[in-house]
Amino acid sequence: MKTIATTIIIAASALATATAATPVYLDENAPLEERVEDALSRMTLHEKVAMCHAEGKFASPGVARLGIPDLWMSDGPHGVRAEINWDNWGYANRTNDSITAFPALTALAATWNPALAEAYGNALGEEALYREKDVMLGPGVNIYRTPLNGRNFEYMGEDPFLAGELVVPYIKGMQQNGVAACVKHYALNNQELWRGHIDVELSDRALHEIYLPAFRRAVEEGKAWSIMGSYNKVRGQHACHNELLLNDILKGDWGFDGVVITDWGGAHDTREAALYGLDLEMGSYTNGLTSESDFTTDDYYLANAYEEALKKGELPMATLDDKVRRLLRLNFRTAMRRDKPYGALCTPEHYAVAEEIGNEAVVLLKNAPVSKKQGPLLPIDAAKYGRILVVGENATRNLMQGGGSSELKVKDAFTPLDGLRDLYGDKVVYAAGYKSGRPMYGHADIIPQHVEDSLRAEAVAMAREADLVIFVGGLNKNHAQDCEAGDREEYGLPFGQPRLIEELAKACPNIVVTLLSGNAVEMPWAKEVPAILQAWYLGTMTGKVVGNVLSGAVNPSGKLPFSFPARLEDCGAHSFGEIAYPGDSIKEQYLEDIFVGYRWHDTKKIPAAYPFGYGLSYTTFEVGKATASADRIAPDGTITVSVPVKNTGKVAGKETLQLYISDLESSLPRPVKELKAFEKVSLAPGEEKVVTFTITPEMLKFYSPEQKAWIAEPGKFKALVGTSSTDIKASHTFTL
Ligand code: BGC
Repeated sequence: MKTIATTIIIAASALATATAATPVYLDENAPLEERVEDALSRMTLHEKVAMCHAEGKFASPGVARLGIPDLWMSDGPHGVRAEINWDNWGYANRTNDSITAFPALTALAATWNPALAEAYGNALGEEALYREKDVMLGPGVNIYRTPLNGRNFEYMGEDPFLAGELVVPYIKGMQQNGVAACVKHYALNNQELWRGHIDVELSDRALHEIYLPAFRRAVEEGKAWSIMGSYNKVRGQHACHNELLLNDILKGDWGFDGVVITDWGGAHDTREAALYGLDLEMGSYTNGLTSESDFTTDDYYLANAYEEALKKGELPMATLDDKVRRLLRLNFRTAMRRDKPYGALCTPEHYAVAEEIGNEAVVLLKNAPVSKKQGPLLPIDAAKYGRILVVGENATRNLMQGGGSSELKVKDAFTPLDGLRDLYGDKVVYAAGYKSGRPMYGHADIIPQHVEDSLRAEAVAMAREADLVIFVGGLNKNHAQDCEAGDREEYGLPFGQPRLIEELAKACPNIVVTLLSGNAVEMPWAKEVPAILQAWYLGTMTGKVVGNVLSGAVNPSGKLPFSFPARLEDCGAHSFGEIAYPGDSIKEQYLEDIFVGYRWHDTKKIPAAYPFGYGLSYTTFEVGKATASADRIAPDGTITVSVPVKNTGKVAGKETLQLYISDLESSLPRPVKELKAFEKVSLAPGEEKVVTFTITPEMLKFYSPEQKAWIAEPGKFKALVGTSSTDIKASHTFTL
């Protein structure tokens, strides 16, 4: 009979042996690649294949036998999404998944402030950790090609350099928590209409100069641990298994060592998925995790069919091992990392980050005096006004609902009406003015599209009695607005807002229009109103931020991350007929080529209503002359260009100096100018600072399709320093 003592001794010695023999893959001090190889060597074929496809809506399997945990994912990119059911798209109705909604990525881009991008990534990473997520599905860096794209609000604007400058710190901020960023949607997902199959054709130059650089920097500098393939096709092949995009460029040229994840349902073929760069298949069809379903996870392209083909030798084992190595690497970097922090949810610090980003994101588009005797209408001088009328559905609407996968369940939501009531108390009265239906994703048929005349009449009548009107409108997150899976159907403001704004302005000339949207809109009414603010989607702190800026507690410093064309046909993508946008439903050709956004407006001499990089302030800045270190730059050298900027007004403010380079002698057509650097400076009244930009030969390059490389041609260049892409204040000509 065994005594208790001997049992303990046996157990203890078993433990000692186990400790002595701790496998390398479990040893956090062992080099990452050794851990990967060790784990790989212990896995069966079935376990390897299982890792390559989902086991739940937002989970993929580890290896239970080896103690390797599952990977848990969540959308992305503005907050951690509420819990979704294991095997269908319904919400799990949990009570512990309310979070902080951070401003939309368009708003982040409008800050032109990389430090805020890092704070954003970090705060979101902390929320993801608390919610026990390993992979956050974001950020998105698809280039803003047309203002009709329903998903522009999730991206960082029209310029690859600006998007690159912000995506790198966002990723670093997030991943330092042991949470992977999943950069999306790679690539050429520039519209939602027909996103599942539209086949994008474009030149090598447009691909490399416009659509890929932000992804490239996310991989090379941000060291993103995962990337999401997009739904569309590129040059005839689905982007989620695309030889050129994934094997040649991402994993070949850029040396990406992370995981390529499909967009949900983005895989279409076992052989292509096996061979052309896909590592993890998610969301194929919607249900199918149980035996009751017609389509189970075993039926995924990278499941049983893949295993069979491998067993028969029809597909190479080496590509499976490559996928599994990547998945193990991701697992060790996230789920299996023991030294990571615990994270936190909805902390005062997170709200402060959200507010600060919002404060720097809001763009003052217009601020004129109402009459000759007065100064500009903003900031609001409350003492002047007895009755302040707030009009517009977006003053009260929860704009975190709807929009598709980025929708969020927020713990707190400060609406603009809340923010204005906090500031101006009983002076504030409210009228909806228009109505757009309940927040939703899809179901366009039940969204009221007609204009409610009675709501407009009521608001206009109230405006006649008001001393100041604050209109808070824009777009919302319903289908055909700023929403996934569909594009906008009109460039103007919907739900009768243009007429409403015009009538309000006639009834009360003291009117400020505040637009909450992720897209440019047509503004034929702009000349009728003295002040316009572009305030994006600002998340939890929306109302606080809108109040801060309108009242002058915060001096606006946001700059547009994309151009606002005066008319839709002024936009490059809309200048070549349907084949350029939205395509013929099968194919689409990016015929505007490299001339996207301001590159188009500048080169074609079609001024935008509000240009890229533009944004006003409550103070004034004076930018002085440029002084340069030299007139020639060597192919391996640098020169500097310094420009003084002074706050010549009465309040503190921030100005963003933007360096554009113009290639004056080039063998191929180039945009008139391209953004290559920027710096946001904070200045007290009367204060002056000198901003020094270092120009490198890298900044002079374009992509040569013949040489398949970035090259700089000798010749003359011009460095242009401005406060927007059209307000150039200083310049310096130099030779390479
Ligand atoms: C979206 C992705 C998202 C995924 C999971 C897809 O429909 O395009 O951006 O991450 O769903 O929700």
